[in-house]
Amino acid sequence: MTDLNAALALTGPDATLALYRDWATTYDGGFATDMQYNLPAHVAAAFVAGGGQGPVLDVGAGTGLLAGSLRQMGFQGQIDALDFSQEMLDVAAKKRLYAGLFRADVTQALNLPRLYNGITSSGTFTAGHVGPVAFGPMLDVALPGALFALSINQRVWTGQAFDTALADLAAANRIRDLQLIDVQIYGDAARALDPTHADDRAYVALFRAV
Ligand SMILES: C[S@@+](CC[C@H](N)C(=O)[O-])C[C@H]1O[C@@H](n2cnc3c(N)ncnc32)[C@H](O)[C@@H]1O
Repeated sequence: MTDLNAALALTGPDATLALYRDWATTYDGGFATDMQYNLPAHVAAAFVAGGGQGPVLDVGAGTGLLAGSLRQMGFQGQIDALDFSQEMLDVAAKKRLYAGLFRADVTQALNLPRLYNGITSSGTFTAGHVGPVAFGPMLDVALPGALFALSINQRVWTGQAFDTALADLAAANRIRDLQLIDVQIYGDAARALDPTHADDRAYVALFRAV
């Protein structure tokens, strides 16, 4: 089983921590580069185009690819990283992209030293990973009007009820201005490496906290 296939079949916190502990040092080269993993850049582009401001919390930050894309696009605000895996955060820390690095589970209440004007995430709302239960903890650390840019894999969009969770938050006036941007996760190189997932798509959910 490839790392990607194993990641999309994760069954709980212990399996998640074990997988990312082993994957952290080869994630950027052996996965992101080889598969032409474009999702962090899509999320960063949506956040910048939407007028996103710092400080930003990057949820499921992993090795820091989304923060790297934000910097490449000229974003100068403060970015903090939050991730469940210490080993992924250790790789991110070496890139010196993040002001704060927090090891935490986003499905639980977050105890962080500040609130945020922006919340970003790529690759974390997907099969075997994090469901809509994380929306509450993320909204609790967002300032009023904060811009969210979150990728949600279309394989889990209805199956894990992301569609109804976002509609319910809008109806409850906790979020506003929801837009869904349809993006391709990988580039053409992925076809030869992983035909099962090469054409996977995600929505970038762009919305503001009320
Ligand atoms: C596919 S990686 C994406 C990393 C990075 N954002 C990117 O696009 O390359 C998913 C990340 O989510 C993290 N993660 C999984 N479950 C989590 C949870 N409950 N709380 C916080 N982070 C979690 C993993 O440790 C991993 O670093």
